[in-house]
Amino acid sequence: MTAKLIKGTEIREEILEEIAAEVKEIKEKKGVVPGLVTILVGANPASISYVTLKIKTADRLGFKEIQDDQPEDISEADLLAIIDKYNKDDSIHGILVQLPLPKHIDDKKILNAIDPDKDVDGFHPVNVGRLMIGGAEVKFAPCTPAGIQEMIVRAGVETSGAEVVVVGRSNIVGKPIANMMVQKGPGANSTVTIVHTRTQDLAAHCKRADILIVAAGVPGLVKPEWIKPGACVIDVGVNRVGEKVSEKTGKKIAILRGDVDFDAAKEIAGSITPVPGGVGPMTITMLMKNTLNSMKYKLGMM
Ligand code: GUN
Repeated sequence: MTAKLIKGTEIREEILEEIAAEVKEIKEKKGVVPGLVTILVGANPASISYVTLKIKTADRLGFKEIQDDQPEDISEADLLAIIDKYNKDDSIHGILVQLPLPKHIDDKKILNAIDPDKDVDGFHPVNVGRLMIGGAEVKFAPCTPAGIQEMIVRAGVETSGAEVVVVGRSNIVGKPIANMMVQKGPGANSTVTIVHTRTQDLAAHCKRADILIVAAGVPGLVKPEWIKPGACVIDVGVNRVGEKVSEKTGKKIAILRGDVDFDAAKEIAGSITPVPGGVGPMTITMLMKNTLNSMKYKLGMM
């Protein structure tokens, strides 16, 4: 069997078109657009490329966007003052501080200073708590898990009563996606197991999964024989395993590999996400959706 490919690049375009249409309609009716500020401290090359893509996407959707670049040696107090300024700015609905931050800054302190109602990353403890409660309490689901759930739903995979196995227990993917899939409601109602580095028989758990979500950061961790025939496999791993020269640009680019042995797994799974082009493009897409929703909450439209 050859699995159906769940392409994040295609789903991204569908969702961005939906967001752009809504932004246009709200702008015409109410004269407001979503406002997003991205704060980048220092010049980490990976962070620069993420932030650039976020800004380009926000621009394309007709958002107001501010790129606030700060020097590597900014003090914690000065960074807190900048966040305070955007917390008070009514034209800003989403504040994103790009991680990682330099070592002299306590990232928890910074993330906790963002107004939870502008925390479009969904990292603030208030939003983590809202996610745990579920239902109407949820304001901002963190972007990667939100993208994963959206992909599962749009691929037409049944989640109600499904055995979901999540490999990895990180705060930004494993724990929130497990929490989201176990909630009551559409795209959820699943029976969820989280497995991690101390789990005794990883393979046995994975073999039970109707939906296998892998966010371990270990290239090729999941072997084809761990996959239940017909399962939906979501590979969140983006591991740099080498470099190659791009045929398009002639520049050196990273060779990326997922946490799942894709070539073998696609012969067993019912549906599977590729790496790259799977979960990756969904994260920024859901950031845009969270920013739009933040404005809609403020306008009393949600
Ligand atoms: N650095 C890498 N991914 C992310 C993300 O999703 N949000 C933030 N704020 N920083 C990141």
